[in-house]
This record gives sequence, C-alpha cells and structure tokens, in this order.
Amino acid sequence: MSVNKEIKKITTHTLQKMKSGGEKISMITAYDFSFAKIFDASGIDIILVGDSASNVMAGHETTLPITLDQMIYHAQSVVRGIERCLVVVDMPFGSYQGNSKEALNSAIRIMKETGGHSVKLEGGEEVVESIKRIVGTGVPVMGHLGLTPQSIYKFGTYTVRAKEEEEADKLRRDALLLQEAGCFAIVLEKIPAALASEVSKSLHIPTIGIGAGGACDGQVLVMHDMLGINTEFKPRFLRQYLNMSEQITGAVQQYIRDVKSRDFPNEQEQY
Ligand code: KIV
Repeated sequence: MSVNKEIKKITTHTLQKMKSGGEKISMITAYDFSFAKIFDASGIDIILVGDSASNVMAGHETTLPITLDQMIYHAQSVVRGIERCLVVVDMPFGSYQGNSKEALNSAIRIMKETGGHSVKLEGGEEVVESIKRIVGTGVPVMGHLGLTPQSIYKFGTYTVRAKEEEEADKLRRDALLLQEAGCFAIVLEKIPAALASEVSKSLHIPTIGIGAGGACDGQVLVMHDMLGINTEFKPRFLRQYLNMSEQITGAVQQYIRDVKSRDFPNEQEQY
C-alpha cells in the first residue's frame, strides 16, 4: 500500500473532505515517539494520544488515574515522531469536568506544551459549554460518545451502550449538540451498528467508530490491541493484525539463550 503523497498534512479539513468524498478515515492510538513515527510513515490519517495510556502504558485498570502532565509527556513524544498525520490528544479525567474555564486552561496547556493539533474529550450535553469555549479559541475538538471509559464507575461495565431507546435518543441529541458546538469529528464507542450508521448519516462531520460497525466514517483501534501486544483483551469488535507478544517473547527467549550459551556477542559483534 502506498501512502497518498499528494496530502502533505492531514488537517480537520482533509477529514471533512474524506467524509464528503466517501473515503474512510484511519485512526490508531500511540503514546511514544518510535511507534508514532512508524504509524505516520505507514500513512495513518490520525494518531490519537489516548488516555488508554493509563491502561496500556501505566498498567492501571481504568483511564481515570492518568494526569494532564502525563498526557502532555506522551503527546510531546508522539508529536516528535510525526510529519503528516493529525494528532489528537485526549483530555484526561479531571482536567475538564469542573467548568469550562478549567477545560479551556487544560486544552491550552495541551496545545502549547505538546504541539498536538487538537484535543478530545468525553461526553455530550454536559460538556457542550466547554467545547464551545475551547473551539472559540481556535482549538479543534473531537467528541466521544457511547462507551466513554472515564464514566466506567457510572456504567459499572464495559458492555455495549445505547441499546435501550432512551439512551440511544440521548446519544442522537448529543451528537447533534457536539456538531453544533463545533466539534470536527466524534468517536462513537461500542454502540449498536445501526445506531452508529444513523448518527453518521445525520451529521456532516465525520464519525470514528470503535466497536460501532462499518458505517462510521472512520475506525480507531488501540495499538496494543490490534498489534497483539496486549493479548488478554479480545472483544468481538477487535481485529488483531499481529501477535507481537508471541513474536517478542520468541525474540527475547532466543536472546537469553544466545547470552547464556556465549553465542552472543560473536567476534563481529565486538570491538
Ligand atoms: O483512549 C483511547 O484510546 C480512546 C479510544 C478507545 C477511542 O479514547
């Protein structure tokens, strides 16, 4: 697969054009320089510096513990690795829920200190005022509806959201509110495919799905899940493209054998 060299840099306008032109948007998470560099050179459209870093990088059970300073560190590392893709940085739990001024200050810190291109925050009606204020300063905002992991203790489970009509209706309304507030795209996480399809058609901004079916305008996966680094997480929506855990284990075991047997280093591998 060759990277479309005509697009020098992906912007929120490029994404809008992709939706209008029927081209699907690809998004993956990354948290460090080296993987960001590989993903960008592979031609990915968007890198999300997700607060899933709390799980896959720090080993926490939820996304709640990660701090704004830690997200900024991850985002700085990612931005150093990219040339072409759009970088979206998650606003962590506790950095925007207090009020819109707090939300704005956190978004400004992310933009000033990381060089990222946009921020993402979770929620609908409750965060509309904050979104308007952030967008008003010229910072692009991506929304996130459906299974919003920062609310896991309210939901109690990571199961599919908006299966009932009342929650589906709220999601439909929230999606329109986020669009009106100025979001350039919305992540739809773990909701029925039919609902995601309906919402995607009702919006002029792109939707990016994760466990939300094929009718979304784009897809996102967590890199550790799709590359098989984290093999314990096997939800139905996940397609695993590699088994890195197995490959790395094999490589490291071979290295251990080579060290123990004095095969490594050989004469060519020393000075
Ligand atoms: O933090 C994250 O990785 C996310 C994706 C699951 C969309 O928000």
